[in-house]
Amino acid sequence: MAVDLSTNICGVEFRNPFILSSATPTKTARNIKRGLEAGWAGAVMKTLVPYDYARRYPRPRFKIYWLKDQGGYPKTIPRSFSITDIEEGSHLTPEEYVEEIDEAKRLAGDAVIIGSITAPDMETWEKYIELMNGSRADMVELNFSCPYAGEPGTGREGEKLGWQLMYTAEEVIRLAKRKCAVPFSPKISSQTGEVDEWAARFEGAGAPCLTLSHRISSIDIDIETGKPIPFGCIIGFGGPYLIGFSLKWIAKAAPKVKVPIIACMGMLDWSDAVKFIMVGASSVESCSAVMVQGYDIVKSWLTGLRRFMLDKGYSSIEDMRGISLPHIITPSMVERENEGVYAVVDKEKCTGCGICKRCCFYFAIDIEGGKASVDLEKCDGCGLCQEVCPEDAVKAEKLFDKDIYPRPDSGKKPYNKLF
Ligand SMILES: Cc1cc2nc3c(=O)[nH]c(=O)nc-3n(C[C@H](O)[C@H](O)[C@H](O)COP(=O)(O)O)c2cc1C
Ligand code: SF4
Ligand code: SF4
Repeated sequence: MAVDLSTNICGVEFRNPFILSSATPTKTARNIKRGLEAGWAGAVMKTLVPYDYARRYPRPRFKIYWLKDQGGYPKTIPRSFSITDIEEGSHLTPEEYVEEIDEAKRLAGDAVIIGSITAPDMETWEKYIELMNGSRADMVELNFSCPYAGEPGTGREGEKLGWQLMYTAEEVIRLAKRKCAVPFSPKISSQTGEVDEWAARFEGAGAPCLTLSHRISSIDIDIETGKPIPFGCIIGFGGPYLIGFSLKWIAKAAPKVKVPIIACMGMLDWSDAVKFIMVGASSVESCSAVMVQGYDIVKSWLTGLRRFMLDKGYSSIEDMRGISLPHIITPSMVERENEGVYAVVDKEKCTGCGICKRCCFYFAIDIEGGKASVDLEKCDGCGLCQEVCPEDAVKAEKLFDKDIYPRPDSGKKPYNKLF
């Protein structure tokens, strides 16, 4: 069976679903060329900004949380890591930016070059859209989602910048619909909540596709000094640990809009792309995974994705797109009548470490003769023990057709009096 990895967004053909998102790895044509040579289907240039302070960076400017201290690094990259930085916009002037886009396009072959712009007022938006029209960009992202600009302490409080641009974005989208010569995609912030509703509103205003979403602004504190770190100000946190958050918004937005969705935030490997596509995305952007593993990581993603599609019999991205959506239910629909489930210990595997005992909040586990032993009369079948056991030695399994010791929430009396 032949597997076709290509995807089409607003008539623009991508050879595969993997796009370099707007960030350090896309700051120049030279960077983009390196990425496209590795196999990325396209690149969003780092965002063109008009503010001087956002074009000058501190040195050093990166702090990566939860990467090296999780064990296994560098062989294993933990999903937990998050890059924070002060590197808001492109260092380029508008004129240099256009030159760099044109050079990237010249070097791109069949890959897609996407410009990225943001602006504090309609006049600058219009000027930047005109600039993009005069460039060779295939598409443009309208960045309404920078997690820094406009935060307290930037000296720009009260101005509509960064993610606060969301509140004026529909006017900009209507302008872009009239003026922008190529397909454009608003990059939606997740900081304003209800990303799915914003997506529907932005489609209503005329957006031909949507990028969901961008990092969240956060802060950390050094408890020795009591001061905020690493830079002292509110900064953006993103990365693979936010995959569930990103998936949720795409799953909620996809049924509400007809336009294509480009997923962004949360990629660690190719299987994340499959998840994004299965909840309705047409392609995926990645930044953090590239920043710690380099451009070539896409080679293993392409191999993994192709192999997965072959194994599962998916011949195209469209075959998989949105297939999870009909199966997403509400919490009230979740099966709750799972009777007769109790913890069972595999005595061969159990080392008697006691981790399950300390985490059993029904006091059902004791260590007897160096092995975990479950008192079924107390066991609730909650399954926490199987989640914490380092040896996979305990499983919550269906043992009986009904609860032989009715649980507190079963409504059946008398339940175990010990609770
Ligand atoms: C160092 C750095 C610089 C970034 N610069 C930009 C930017 O200029 N424009 C933009 O839209 N997003 C920028 N981003 C956000 C990324 O494009 C992306 O939306 C975000 O990191 C979430 O994706 P990820 O989980 O794959 O990292 C930047 C992110 C990082 C880490
Ligand atoms: S956590 Fe696992 S290995 Fe440790 S005592 Fe419990 S069942 Fe045994
Ligand atoms: S299933 Fe829950 S209640 Fe039963 S032993 Fe495990 S942790 Fe305790």
